[in-house]
Amino acid sequence: MKILIINGPNLNMLGKRNKAIYGDKTLSEIDTLLRKEGESLGVDIVSFQSNSEGALIDFIQKNSAEASAIGINPGALTHYGFSLRDALVDSGLPVIEVHLSNIYAREEWRAKSVIAPIAKGQISGLGWRGYVAALRTLVGELKKET
Ligand code: DQA
Repeated sequence: MKILIINGPNLNMLGKRNKAIYGDKTLSEIDTLLRKEGESLGVDIVSFQSNSEGALIDFIQKNSAEASAIGINPGALTHYGFSLRDALVDSGLPVIEVHLSNIYAREEWRAKSVIAPIAKGQISGLGWRGYVAALRTLVGELKKET
């Protein structure tokens, strides 16, 4: 079983970017943790990050047929990324939306997600642990279903 872990714009800057809000782990540290968690759950993790919405969509289109679920932190595309949302819907896969920060406790414009209505659920404000929770939940549900 393959799980896609996707990160959108600016998340390549984790570890440098506003640590008080996003924490001090880099994206590659988070990916390493997720790969380890994947190993213990018996699933393969395929991680991808891009600053461009088109590249994220290309990745989803190319990889979703072979995958079982998607965990995604869409970055600011959360708030206006309609093409990304459509690609996630077209993938036909269960999606969990992850945010390191609590998007409801920040600027008003961050409280709206165009992804949330098409996601299975959203995890917001739990830092890097949110990704782990998303992965465990997706795998747990998939194992129950099969
Ligand atoms: C974020 C929240 C978004 O509003 C922001 O644009 C990000 C990161 C988060 O992980 O908290 O880039 O998705």
